Amino acid sequence: YGDYDFIVVSNRLPVDRVTDASGDSWRRSPGGLVTALAPVMAKADGAWVGWHGAPDETLEPFDHGNMHLRPVPLSASEVELYYEGFSNATLWPLYHDVIAPPEFHRTWWDSYRTVNRRFAEAAAEVAAEGATVWVQDYQLQLVPQLLRNLRPDLKIGFFNHIPFPPLEIFAQLPWRKDIIAGLLGADLIGFQRPSDTANFLRCVRRFAGHSVRQQQVHVTGEDGSSYVSRAEAFPISIDVSQITELAKREDVIERSKQIRRELGNPKVILLGVDRLDYTKGISHRLKAYGELLEDGRISVEDAALIQVASPSRERVEQYRLLREEVEGTVGRINGTYDTMSNTAIRYLHHSYPVEEMVALYLASDVMLVTALRDGMNLVAKEYVAARTENTGVLVLSEFAGAADQLRQAVLVNPHDIDRLKDAVVNAINMPPREAQRRMRLMRRQVLQNDVERWSQNFLNALRMEGEQQ
Ligand code: G6P
Repeated sequence: YGDYDFIVVSNRLPVDRVTDASGDSWRRSPGGLVTALAPVMAKADGAWVGWHGAPDETLEPFDHGNMHLRPVPLSASEVELYYEGFSNATLWPLYHDVIAPPEFHRTWWDSYRTVNRRFAEAAAEVAAEGATVWVQDYQLQLVPQLLRNLRPDLKIGFFNHIPFPPLEIFAQLPWRKDIIAGLLGADLIGFQRPSDTANFLRCVRRFAGHSVRQQQVHVTGEDGSSYVSRAEAFPISIDVSQITELAKREDVIERSKQIRRELGNPKVILLGVDRLDYTKGISHRLKAYGELLEDGRISVEDAALIQVASPSRERVEQYRLLREEVEGTVGRINGTYDTMSNTAIRYLHHSYPVEEMVALYLASDVMLVTALRDGMNLVAKEYVAARTENTGVLVLSEFAGAADQLRQAVLVNPHDIDRLKDAVVNAINMPPREAQRRMRLMRRQVLQNDVERWSQNFLNALRMEGEQQ
């Protein structure tokens, strides 16, 4: 047995390498998951098992802050087959409504199995007797079962950060039974939305043949042993205090004003912030914006669009194609509508530190989240948290998990371009009192449900699962 009572397993370790003149060091990655789990880690003497981001490099375990980190190595070919291939060109499109066609390759699947086994073995090595292990996301769906076989003493949780697809789509996967069996190794399987949970349970009934009562699956192993695995929705959230504190900081507020000035003080600023991913509906958003300019319903002086598209998975073909498409569209719209003093779309293919993101949220009157499918979409929740004066309007796709919580957003179907255009115009012209009423209600929701509460809810439920059994 290992030394640690609480272990998180995720594809990426929660640190990024920074290289400067004094050599290499590690910095905690941005993002709510790390923030939520760092205190739990510190209290429970926890360890984090994950890949450190560089191919063909083996690293010894090391400590960072209060966390013990156990790096899992990936070869260059595993990065290609397991990460870029099976995770991001098979599962990612399959789980996001096949917006891009998923590819099925047996070599990718073999690599996914090999790498999942390596993660499971690393977790088994560091886990103390009876420890709690929390496995994260679609890259590691086989880990729960592999780990249970290695270490039946552990309490195992799994959380899927992305959607779980409807049975009719999941059925395409040649390895559908293996994935279901892999997940069912967990005592508790968490999803973002109740609809994801329902999709999963239908797939369990169809492809695993276990009996399912309410949200409980009675799993019988090959050796005749049996246990209960439960599925439930736990919508994830953000580090609320980080965002609200930044939104009140003088330098951040000053920066937000500077952004407006630098854009030539347009009447309204529209904002999109996404990883450059085909699930985010960036093209639909640009189409709606471009048509509004063409129709003359808005002008570049009235309404400028800032689109942050942070680089992502750039070696995967569909991401390269998307980049070409988006950049072509931005170029055409700007070429047509820019003036010497105003730019229609300020397109930024960068990632920014959270301070700059909050300044952008504060600088923008309307936030556009038009995902075609999204597990949650934390940008929507961050925008709401940042608007401490209850101003600003959120246009939100009903296909993002966040639409379950942010009911007072201007909800849209991004495929319906005419209604999307109306929604943008309505958002721009919304009477301030109406905008404030909506924002106040959404802020109440987000402020009461931050990411720490999310992790506590999940871990409490997992603890109860263990006790019942
Ligand atoms: C999504 C996934 C995460 C993933 C992140 C960034 O949010 O749910 O598991 O880490 O995208 O993608 P990347 O492939 O760069 O890790």
